Amino acid sequence: MPVAETDPGPSVAKLETIVSLAKRRGFVYPSSEIYGGINAVWDYGPLGVELKNNVKRAWWRSMVQERDDIVGLDAGILMHPQVWVTSGHVGSFSDPLVECDTCHRRFRLDELPGVEGLSATELQDEGIVERLGLVCPVDQGPLSAPRRFNLMFKTHMGPVEDEGAVIYLRPETAQGSYVNFKNVQMSSRKKVPFGIAQIGKSFRNEISPGNFVFRMREFEQMEMQYFVRPGEAATQAFDEWLPARRAWYERYGVTPERLRFREHAPDELAHYAKKAIDVEYRFPFGWKELEGVHNRGDFDLGSHAGASGENLEYFDPVAEEHFIPWVVEAAAGADRAAFTFLIDAYHEEQLEKGTRVVLRLHPDIAPYKVAVLPLLKKRPEIVELCHTIKGDLQKDMMAVYDDTAAIGKLYRRQDEIGTPWCVTVDVDSLEDGAVTVRDRDSMTQERVPVENVKRLLMDRMAAAREA
Ligand code: GAP
Repeated sequence: MPVAETDPGPSVAKLETIVSLAKRRGFVYPSSEIYGGINAVWDYGPLGVELKNNVKRAWWRSMVQERDDIVGLDAGILMHPQVWVTSGHVGSFSDPLVECDTCHRRFRLDELPGVEGLSATELQDEGIVERLGLVCPVDQGPLSAPRRFNLMFKTHMGPVEDEGAVIYLRPETAQGSYVNFKNVQMSSRKKVPFGIAQIGKSFRNEISPGNFVFRMREFEQMEMQYFVRPGEAATQAFDEWLPARRAWYERYGVTPERLRFREHAPDELAHYAKKAIDVEYRFPFGWKELEGVHNRGDFDLGSHAGASGENLEYFDPVAEEHFIPWVVEAAAGADRAAFTFLIDAYHEEQLEKGTRVVLRLHPDIAPYKVAVLPLLKKRPEIVELCHTIKGDLQKDMMAVYDDTAAIGKLYRRQDEIGTPWCVTVDVDSLEDGAVTVRDRDSMTQERVPVENVKRLLMDRMAAAREA
Protein backbone atom coordinates (compact mmCIF):
# COMPACT_ATOMS: atom_id res chain seq x y z
CA MET A 1 0.00 0.00 0.00
CA PRO A 2 1.51 3.37 -1.01
CA VAL A 3 2.36 5.66 1.85
CA ALA A 4 2.72 9.44 1.46
CA GLU A 5 5.99 9.78 3.31
CA THR A 6 6.65 13.42 2.44
CA ASP A 7 7.61 14.99 5.73
CA PRO A 8 5.54 18.13 6.25
CA GLY A 9 7.94 19.33 8.95
CA PRO A 10 7.07 19.93 12.54
CA SER A 11 3.45 20.63 13.27
CA VAL A 12 2.66 24.36 13.38
CA ALA A 13 0.41 23.97 16.35
CA LYS A 14 1.68 22.68 19.65
CA LEU A 15 -0.75 20.60 21.67
CA GLU A 16 -0.66 23.11 24.59
CA THR A 17 -1.54 25.95 22.19
CA ILE A 18 -4.60 24.10 20.89
CA VAL A 19 -5.73 23.01 24.37
CA SER A 20 -5.43 26.56 25.66
CA LEU A 21 -7.26 28.10 22.69
CA ALA A 22 -9.95 25.43 22.92
CA LYS A 23 -10.67 26.24 26.55
CA ARG A 24 -10.31 30.04 26.32
CA ARG A 25 -12.59 30.38 23.31
CA GLY A 26 -15.20 27.81 24.38
CA PHE A 27 -14.46 24.81 22.16
CA VAL A 28 -13.64 22.16 24.79
CA TYR A 29 -13.60 22.12 28.61
CA PRO A 30 -12.45 19.41 31.02
CA SER A 31 -15.51 17.52 32.25
CA SER A 32 -16.75 18.18 35.81
CA GLU A 33 -13.96 20.72 36.22
CA ILE A 34 -15.32 22.28 39.43
CA TYR A 35 -14.86 18.87 41.09
CA GLY A 36 -11.31 18.52 39.83
CA GLY A 37 -12.26 16.96 36.50
CA ILE A 38 -12.67 13.34 35.42
CA ASN A 39 -9.94 11.71 33.42
CA ALA A 40 -10.46 11.32 29.67
CA VAL A 41 -13.89 12.92 29.45
CA TRP A 42 -14.28 16.33 27.82
CA ASP A 43 -17.22 18.71 27.38
CA TYR A 44 -17.83 20.71 24.21
CA GLY A 45 -18.51 24.41 24.72
CA PRO A 46 -20.58 26.76 22.53
CA LEU A 47 -18.06 26.80 19.67
CA GLY A 48 -17.00 23.17 20.09
CA VAL A 49 -20.53 21.84 19.77
CA GLU A 50 -20.94 23.79 16.51
CA LEU A 51 -17.60 22.49 15.23
CA LYS A 52 -18.34 18.87 16.07
CA ASN A 53 -21.91 19.08 14.72
CA ASN A 54 -20.46 20.46 11.49
CA VAL A 55 -17.97 17.59 11.27
CA LYS A 56 -20.78 15.08 11.76
CA ARG A 57 -22.95 16.90 9.21
CA ALA A 58 -20.11 16.87 6.65
CA TRP A 59 -19.59 13.15 7.22
CA TRP A 60 -23.33 12.41 6.94
CA ARG A 61 -23.50 14.53 3.81
CA SER A 62 -20.79 12.51 2.04
CA MET A 63 -21.88 9.13 3.42
CA VAL A 64 -25.67 9.34 3.20
CA GLN A 65 -26.97 12.50 1.55
CA GLU A 66 -24.76 12.38 -1.53
CA ARG A 67 -25.08 8.61 -2.09
CA ASP A 68 -27.84 6.31 -3.27
CA ASP A 69 -26.38 3.17 -1.75
CA ILE A 70 -26.01 4.12 1.94
CA VAL A 71 -28.75 4.69 4.52
CA GLY A 72 -28.61 5.90 8.11
CA LEU A 73 -29.30 4.23 11.45
CA ASP A 74 -29.31 5.31 15.09
CA ALA A 75 -29.15 2.17 17.25
CA GLY A 76 -29.17 2.13 21.07
CA ILE A 77 -26.02 2.45 23.14
CA LEU A 78 -27.25 -0.38 25.36
CA MET A 79 -27.64 -3.68 23.55
CA HIS A 80 -28.40 -7.28 24.43
CA PRO A 81 -25.30 -8.53 26.30
CA GLN A 82 -25.04 -11.52 23.97
CA VAL A 83 -24.16 -9.09 21.15
CA TRP A 84 -20.79 -8.45 22.81
CA VAL A 85 -20.11 -12.12 23.44
CA THR A 86 -20.85 -12.98 19.81
CA SER A 87 -18.91 -10.01 18.46
CA GLY A 88 -15.82 -11.22 20.31
CA HIS A 89 -15.57 -8.13 22.50
CA VAL A 90 -16.14 -9.96 25.80
CA GLY A 91 -13.36 -12.39 24.93
CA SER A 92 -10.90 -10.28 22.97
CA PHE A 93 -11.45 -6.55 23.31
CA SER A 94 -8.56 -5.95 25.64
CA ASP A 95 -5.19 -4.25 25.93
CA PRO A 96 -2.07 -5.60 27.71
CA LEU A 97 -1.79 -3.93 31.11
CA VAL A 98 1.18 -3.78 33.48
CA GLU A 99 1.18 -2.36 37.00
CA CYS A 100 3.99 -0.77 38.99
CA ASP A 101 4.60 -2.63 42.28
CA THR A 102 5.68 0.61 43.98
CA CYS A 103 3.29 3.38 42.85
CA HIS A 104 0.52 1.08 41.53
CA ARG A 105 0.15 3.15 38.37
CA ARG A 106 -1.08 1.12 35.40
CA PHE A 107 0.25 1.34 31.86
CA ARG A 108 -0.46 -0.11 28.46
CA LEU A 109 2.46 -2.39 27.76
CA ASP A 110 2.59 -1.44 24.09
CA GLU A 111 3.00 2.25 24.98
CA LEU A 112 5.94 1.88 27.38
CA PRO A 113 9.32 3.27 26.35
CA GLY A 114 11.50 0.36 25.26
CA VAL A 115 8.90 -1.70 23.41
CA GLU A 116 8.91 0.32 20.18
CA GLY A 117 9.04 -1.83 17.09
CA LEU A 118 7.94 -5.05 18.82
CA SER A 119 5.32 -7.12 17.04
CA ALA A 120 1.92 -7.86 18.57
CA THR A 121 3.04 -11.49 19.07
CA GLU A 122 6.16 -10.42 20.98
CA LEU A 123 4.02 -8.16 23.15
CA GLN A 124 1.89 -11.14 24.17
CA ASP A 125 4.92 -12.90 25.66
CA GLU A 126 4.28 -13.29 29.41
CA GLY A 127 7.96 -12.86 30.25
CA ILE A 128 8.49 -9.73 28.18
CA VAL A 129 8.79 -7.31 31.12
CA GLU A 130 11.59 -9.34 32.65
CA ARG A 131 13.26 -10.11 29.33
CA LEU A 132 13.46 -6.44 28.33
CA GLY A 133 14.08 -5.20 31.89
CA LEU A 134 11.11 -2.81 31.67
CA VAL A 135 10.50 -0.54 34.67
CA CYS A 136 7.84 1.99 35.68
CA PRO A 137 8.37 5.15 33.57
CA VAL A 138 7.36 7.32 36.57
CA ASP A 139 9.38 5.97 39.53
CA GLN A 140 11.44 3.18 37.93
CA GLY A 141 9.68 0.63 40.18
CA PRO A 142 9.33 -3.03 39.12
CA LEU A 143 6.46 -3.85 36.77
CA SER A 144 4.09 -6.81 36.91
CA ALA A 145 3.82 -9.34 34.08
CA PRO A 146 1.27 -8.18 31.50
CA ARG A 147 -2.38 -9.21 31.81
CA ARG A 148 -5.28 -8.58 29.44
CA PHE A 149 -7.59 -5.75 30.50
CA ASN A 150 -11.06 -5.65 28.90
CA LEU A 151 -11.95 -2.15 27.72
CA MET A 152 -15.72 -2.42 27.96
CA PHE A 153 -17.62 -0.48 30.64
CA LYS A 154 -20.10 -2.65 32.49
CA THR A 155 -23.30 -1.59 34.17
CA HIS A 156 -26.52 -3.28 35.30
CA MET A 157 -29.94 -3.18 33.77
CA GLY A 158 -32.94 -3.08 36.07
CA PRO A 159 -33.11 -2.86 39.87
CA VAL A 160 -31.08 -5.97 40.70
CA GLU A 161 -27.32 -5.61 40.41
CA ASP A 162 -26.39 -9.26 39.97
CA GLU A 163 -24.38 -11.02 37.28
CA GLY A 164 -27.52 -11.75 35.26
CA ALA A 165 -28.22 -8.03 34.90
CA VAL A 166 -24.80 -7.07 33.51
CA ILE A 167 -24.86 -5.10 30.30
CA TYR A 168 -22.20 -3.07 28.50
CA LEU A 169 -21.88 0.45 27.19
CA ARG A 170 -21.14 -0.14 23.51
CA PRO A 171 -17.44 0.18 22.58
CA GLU A 172 -18.30 0.67 18.87
CA THR A 173 -21.43 1.61 16.94
CA ALA A 174 -20.81 -1.07 14.30
CA GLN A 175 -22.66 -3.87 16.10
CA GLY A 176 -25.93 -1.90 15.95
CA SER A 177 -25.65 -1.99 12.16
CA TYR A 178 -24.98 -5.75 12.05
CA VAL A 179 -27.85 -6.77 14.30
CA ASN A 180 -30.16 -4.49 12.28
CA PHE A 181 -28.86 -5.68 8.90
CA LYS A 182 -32.04 -7.55 8.02
CA ASN A 183 -34.36 -4.79 9.32
CA VAL A 184 -32.58 -2.12 7.31
CA GLN A 185 -32.18 -4.20 4.15
CA MET A 186 -35.82 -5.26 4.06
CA SER A 187 -37.35 -1.90 5.03
CA SER A 188 -35.17 0.16 2.69
CA ARG A 189 -35.23 -2.52 -0.06
CA LYS A 190 -31.52 -1.97 -0.68
CA LYS A 191 -29.62 -4.40 -2.83
CA VAL A 192 -26.07 -5.53 -2.03
CA PRO A 193 -23.75 -3.66 -2.26
CA PHE A 194 -25.19 -1.14 0.15
CA GLY A 195 -24.12 0.52 3.39
CA ILE A 196 -25.43 1.50 6.82
CA ALA A 197 -24.03 4.69 8.38
CA GLN A 198 -24.20 5.57 12.04
CA ILE A 199 -22.97 8.36 14.28
CA GLY A 200 -23.08 7.95 18.03
CA LYS A 201 -21.39 7.68 21.39
CA SER A 202 -19.08 4.80 22.23
CA PHE A 203 -17.30 4.06 25.49
CA ARG A 204 -13.94 2.44 26.24
CA ASN A 205 -12.23 2.13 29.59
CA GLU A 206 -8.88 3.06 28.04
CA ILE A 207 -5.82 2.23 30.16
CA SER A 208 -3.86 5.22 28.98
CA PRO A 209 -6.17 7.86 27.59
CA GLY A 210 -4.77 11.27 26.79
CA ASN A 211 -3.53 13.83 24.34
CA PHE A 212 -6.61 15.96 24.92
CA VAL A 213 -9.60 14.60 22.95
CA PHE A 214 -7.45 12.15 20.96
CA ARG A 215 -8.12 9.20 23.25
CA MET A 216 -11.11 9.47 25.54
CA ARG A 217 -13.23 7.11 27.56
CA GLU A 218 -16.48 8.56 26.18
CA PHE A 219 -16.35 9.59 22.53
CA GLU A 220 -18.32 9.69 19.34
CA GLN A 221 -17.83 7.48 16.31
CA MET A 222 -18.88 7.91 12.70
CA GLU A 223 -18.97 4.41 11.25
CA MET A 224 -20.16 3.05 7.94
CA GLN A 225 -20.62 -0.66 7.24
CA TYR A 226 -20.68 -1.56 3.55
CA PHE A 227 -22.24 -4.96 2.76
CA VAL A 228 -20.87 -6.66 -0.34
CA ARG A 229 -20.69 -10.06 -2.06
CA PRO A 230 -18.05 -12.33 -0.46
CA GLY A 231 -14.46 -12.37 -1.68
CA GLU A 232 -13.24 -10.21 -4.54
CA ALA A 233 -16.07 -7.66 -4.19
CA ALA A 234 -14.88 -6.92 -0.66
CA THR A 235 -11.29 -6.40 -1.83
CA GLN A 236 -12.55 -4.04 -4.52
CA ALA A 237 -14.78 -2.12 -2.09
CA PHE A 238 -11.87 -1.83 0.35
CA ASP A 239 -9.62 -0.41 -2.38
CA GLU A 240 -12.30 2.16 -3.24
CA TRP A 241 -13.17 3.23 0.31
CA LEU A 242 -9.60 3.75 1.48
CA PRO A 243 -8.72 6.65 -0.86
CA ALA A 244 -12.27 7.99 -0.62
CA ARG A 245 -11.94 8.35 3.14
CA ARG A 246 -8.59 10.10 2.86
CA ALA A 247 -10.07 12.42 0.22
CA TRP A 248 -12.87 13.38 2.65
CA TYR A 249 -10.36 14.86 5.10
CA GLU A 250 -8.62 16.69 2.28
CA ARG A 251 -11.95 17.96 0.94
CA TYR A 252 -12.51 19.67 4.28
CA GLY A 253 -9.08 21.23 4.35
CA VAL A 254 -6.63 18.84 6.03
CA THR A 255 -3.10 19.28 4.63
CA PRO A 256 -2.51 16.27 2.33
CA GLU A 257 1.14 15.86 3.45
CA ARG A 258 -0.07 15.35 7.01
CA LEU A 259 -2.08 12.27 6.01
CA ARG A 260 -0.78 8.79 5.25
CA PHE A 261 -1.90 5.16 5.22
CA ARG A 262 -0.60 2.48 7.57
CA GLU A 263 -1.44 -1.18 7.11
CA HIS A 264 -1.86 -3.41 10.17
CA ALA A 265 0.57 -6.34 10.40
CA PRO A 266 -1.16 -9.77 10.43
CA ASP A 267 -0.54 -10.26 14.18
CA GLU A 268 -1.83 -6.75 14.93
CA LEU A 269 -5.23 -7.16 13.24
CA ALA A 270 -8.34 -6.83 15.41
CA HIS A 271 -10.12 -10.13 16.03
CA TYR A 272 -12.72 -9.38 13.33
CA ALA A 273 -10.45 -8.06 10.58
CA LYS A 274 -9.04 -9.79 7.50
CA LYS A 275 -7.27 -6.59 6.49
CA ALA A 276 -7.02 -3.14 8.07
CA ILE A 277 -5.43 0.10 6.94
CA ASP A 278 -5.47 3.23 9.04
CA VAL A 279 -5.66 6.74 7.69
CA GLU A 280 -3.12 8.43 9.94
CA TYR A 281 -2.60 12.12 10.68
CA ARG A 282 0.57 13.73 11.86
CA PHE A 283 -0.59 15.05 15.23
CA PRO A 284 1.71 17.29 17.32
CA PHE A 285 2.53 14.07 19.26
CA GLY A 286 3.33 11.98 16.16
CA TRP A 287 1.63 9.96 13.41
CA LYS A 288 -1.56 8.45 14.85
CA GLU A 289 -4.72 6.75 13.65
CA LEU A 290 -7.47 9.02 12.45
CA GLU A 291 -9.72 6.41 10.93
CA GLY A 292 -9.62 2.69 10.19
CA VAL A 293 -10.80 0.96 7.01
CA HIS A 294 -11.39 -2.74 7.64
CA ASN A 295 -12.31 -5.78 5.61
CA ARG A 296 -14.31 -7.71 8.23
CA GLY A 297 -15.26 -10.60 5.93
CA ASP A 298 -18.37 -12.46 7.11
CA PHE A 299 -17.20 -12.45 10.72
CA ASP A 300 -19.99 -10.21 12.01
CA LEU A 301 -23.08 -11.37 10.14
CA GLY A 302 -21.87 -14.96 10.23
CA SER A 303 -21.29 -14.90 14.01
CA HIS A 304 -24.60 -13.17 14.77
CA ALA A 305 -26.50 -15.55 12.50
CA GLY A 306 -24.90 -18.51 14.28
CA ALA A 307 -25.49 -17.23 17.80
CA SER A 308 -28.99 -15.83 17.34
CA GLY A 309 -30.36 -18.51 15.04
CA GLU A 310 -31.63 -15.79 12.67
CA ASN A 311 -31.03 -16.24 8.98
CA LEU A 312 -28.91 -13.22 8.03
CA GLU A 313 -28.31 -14.34 4.48
CA TYR A 314 -29.04 -12.07 1.57
CA PHE A 315 -30.79 -13.34 -1.53
CA ASP A 316 -29.34 -11.99 -4.76
CA PRO A 317 -32.29 -12.04 -7.21
CA VAL A 318 -30.07 -11.71 -10.29
CA ALA A 319 -27.62 -14.51 -9.48
CA GLU A 320 -30.38 -16.39 -7.64
CA GLU A 321 -27.97 -17.03 -4.81
CA HIS A 322 -28.10 -16.87 -1.02
CA PHE A 323 -25.00 -15.66 0.84
CA ILE A 324 -23.81 -13.97 4.03
CA PRO A 325 -22.52 -10.56 2.90
CA TRP A 326 -19.02 -9.49 3.77
CA VAL A 327 -18.45 -6.14 5.43
CA VAL A 328 -16.06 -3.35 4.55
CA GLU A 329 -16.06 -0.78 7.32
CA ALA A 330 -14.92 2.85 7.41
CA ALA A 331 -14.63 3.67 11.13
CA ALA A 332 -13.87 7.26 12.09
CA GLY A 333 -14.02 9.27 15.33
CA ALA A 334 -15.99 12.52 15.39
CA ASP A 335 -13.87 13.96 18.20
CA ARG A 336 -10.62 12.92 16.54
CA ALA A 337 -11.74 14.41 13.22
CA ALA A 338 -12.83 17.68 14.88
CA PHE A 339 -9.49 17.80 16.73
CA THR A 340 -7.62 17.22 13.47
CA PHE A 341 -9.49 20.00 11.66
CA LEU A 342 -8.73 22.33 14.58
CA ILE A 343 -5.01 21.52 14.65
CA ASP A 344 -4.59 21.65 10.91
CA ALA A 345 -6.45 24.97 10.62
CA TYR A 346 -4.29 26.68 13.23
CA HIS A 347 -1.91 29.29 11.80
CA GLU A 348 0.15 32.09 13.24
CA GLU A 349 0.93 34.89 10.79
CA GLN A 350 3.43 37.68 11.30
CA LEU A 351 1.82 40.99 10.36
CA GLU A 352 3.21 44.51 10.68
CA LYS A 353 1.15 45.01 13.81
CA GLY A 354 2.08 41.72 15.47
CA THR A 355 0.99 38.10 15.27
CA ARG A 356 -2.37 37.09 13.86
CA VAL A 357 -3.77 33.77 15.02
CA VAL A 358 -6.16 32.39 12.45
CA LEU A 359 -8.07 29.14 12.21
CA ARG A 360 -8.34 28.48 8.47
CA LEU A 361 -11.32 26.17 8.90
CA HIS A 362 -13.33 25.12 5.87
CA PRO A 363 -16.56 27.20 5.85
CA ASP A 364 -18.66 24.05 6.33
CA ILE A 365 -16.66 23.15 9.44
CA ALA A 366 -16.31 26.66 10.98
CA PRO A 367 -18.58 27.23 14.02
CA TYR A 368 -19.82 30.62 12.80
CA LYS A 369 -20.07 31.40 9.10
CA VAL A 370 -20.28 35.16 9.56
CA ALA A 371 -19.88 37.87 12.19
CA VAL A 372 -21.79 41.14 11.81
CA LEU A 373 -19.87 44.03 13.35
CA PRO A 374 -20.60 47.75 13.82
CA LEU A 375 -17.81 50.23 13.10
CA LEU A 376 -19.38 52.64 15.61
CA LYS A 377 -21.46 51.08 18.32
CA LYS A 378 -22.50 54.49 19.61
CA ARG A 379 -24.64 55.10 16.51
CA PRO A 380 -27.99 53.36 17.15
CA GLU A 381 -28.83 53.31 13.39
CA ILE A 382 -25.63 51.34 12.72
CA VAL A 383 -26.36 48.86 15.51
CA GLU A 384 -29.93 48.50 14.29
CA LEU A 385 -28.82 47.78 10.72
CA CYS A 386 -26.33 45.17 12.08
CA HIS A 387 -29.14 43.38 13.90
CA THR A 388 -31.38 43.46 10.82
CA ILE A 389 -28.60 41.94 8.67
CA LYS A 390 -27.69 39.35 11.29
CA GLY A 391 -31.37 38.43 11.83
CA ASP A 392 -31.72 37.75 8.12
CA LEU A 393 -28.44 35.80 7.82
CA GLN A 394 -29.10 33.58 10.83
CA LYS A 395 -32.17 32.09 9.17
CA ASP A 396 -29.72 30.23 6.92
CA MET A 397 -26.39 30.06 8.75
CA MET A 398 -24.74 30.50 12.14
CA ALA A 399 -24.13 34.25 12.53
CA VAL A 400 -22.92 36.29 15.48
CA TYR A 401 -22.98 39.98 16.46
CA ASP A 402 -20.17 41.52 18.49
CA ASP A 403 -19.56 45.14 19.51
CA THR A 404 -17.36 44.68 22.57
CA ALA A 405 -14.12 46.05 21.10
CA ALA A 406 -12.69 48.20 18.31
CA ILE A 407 -13.02 46.77 14.81
CA GLY A 408 -9.41 45.55 14.50
CA LYS A 409 -9.75 43.52 17.66
CA LEU A 410 -13.15 42.19 16.61
CA TYR A 411 -11.62 40.91 13.37
CA ARG A 412 -8.80 39.18 15.28
CA ARG A 413 -11.27 37.48 17.60
CA GLN A 414 -13.21 36.09 14.66
CA ASP A 415 -9.97 35.02 12.92
CA GLU A 416 -9.00 33.08 16.04
CA ILE A 417 -12.23 31.03 16.00
CA GLY A 418 -12.23 30.54 12.23
CA THR A 419 -15.18 32.69 11.14
CA PRO A 420 -14.71 32.88 7.33
CA TRP A 421 -16.41 36.25 6.80
CA CYS A 422 -17.12 39.47 8.70
CA VAL A 423 -19.73 41.99 7.61
CA THR A 424 -19.03 45.51 8.85
CA VAL A 425 -21.62 48.28 8.97
CA ASP A 426 -20.26 51.85 8.94
CA VAL A 427 -21.58 55.39 8.60
CA ASP A 428 -21.58 55.19 4.79
CA SER A 429 -23.78 52.09 4.97
CA LEU A 430 -26.59 54.33 6.24
CA GLU A 431 -26.28 56.42 3.07
CA ASP A 432 -25.38 53.94 0.32
CA GLY A 433 -26.99 50.75 1.70
CA ALA A 434 -23.72 48.84 1.27
CA VAL A 435 -21.50 47.05 3.82
CA THR A 436 -17.92 45.78 3.91
CA VAL A 437 -17.43 42.02 3.57
CA ARG A 438 -14.02 40.94 4.89
CA ASP A 439 -12.45 37.61 4.01
CA ARG A 440 -10.70 35.78 6.88
CA ASP A 441 -7.84 34.23 4.91
CA SER A 442 -6.90 37.00 2.48
CA MET A 443 -8.11 39.82 4.78
CA THR A 444 -9.38 41.54 1.62
CA GLN A 445 -12.47 43.70 1.91
CA GLU A 446 -15.16 44.50 -0.62
CA ARG A 447 -18.20 46.72 -0.64
CA VAL A 448 -21.45 44.82 -1.14
CA PRO A 449 -25.08 46.08 -1.24
CA VAL A 450 -26.88 44.81 1.88
CA GLU A 451 -29.46 42.92 -0.19
CA ASN A 452 -26.66 40.90 -1.90
CA VAL A 453 -24.77 39.82 1.22
CA LYS A 454 -26.62 36.59 1.92
CA ARG A 455 -26.43 35.44 -1.72
CA LEU A 456 -22.70 36.21 -1.80
CA LEU A 457 -22.00 34.18 1.35
CA MET A 458 -24.19 31.27 0.25
CA ASP A 459 -22.39 31.20 -3.12
CA ARG A 460 -19.00 31.23 -1.42
CA MET A 461 -19.98 28.39 0.88
CA ALA A 462 -21.24 26.35 -2.06
CA ALA A 463 -18.02 27.06 -3.97
CA ALA A 464 -15.88 25.98 -0.99
CA ARG A 465 -17.87 22.75 -0.75
CA GLU A 466 -17.35 21.95 -4.43
CA ALA A 467 -13.64 22.89 -4.45
N1 GAP B 1 -15.83 -0.51 14.54
C1 GAP B 1 -14.43 -0.52 14.43
C2 GAP B 1 -13.77 0.33 15.41
O1 GAP B 1 -14.37 0.73 16.39
P1 GAP B 1 -11.50 1.45 15.99
O2 GAP B 1 -10.28 1.65 15.14
O3 GAP B 1 -11.33 0.82 17.31
O4 GAP B 1 -12.49 0.62 15.08
C3 GAP B 1 -12.60 3.62 15.06
O5 GAP B 1 -12.21 2.85 16.18
C4 GAP B 1 -12.28 5.07 15.29
O6 GAP B 1 -12.90 5.55 16.48
C5 GAP B 1 -10.79 5.38 15.50
O7 GAP B 1 -10.11 5.49 14.27
C6 GAP B 1 -10.84 6.71 16.22
O8 GAP B 1 -11.03 7.78 15.32
C7 GAP B 1 -12.10 6.55 17.06
N2 GAP B 1 -11.75 6.15 18.43
C8 GAP B 1 -11.49 4.90 18.87
N3 GAP B 1 -11.19 4.91 20.19
C9 GAP B 1 -11.25 6.20 20.59
C10 GAP B 1 -11.04 6.87 21.84
N4 GAP B 1 -10.74 6.19 22.95
N5 GAP B 1 -11.19 8.22 21.88
C11 GAP B 1 -11.51 8.92 20.76
N6 GAP B 1 -11.73 8.34 19.56
C12 GAP B 1 -11.59 7.01 19.47
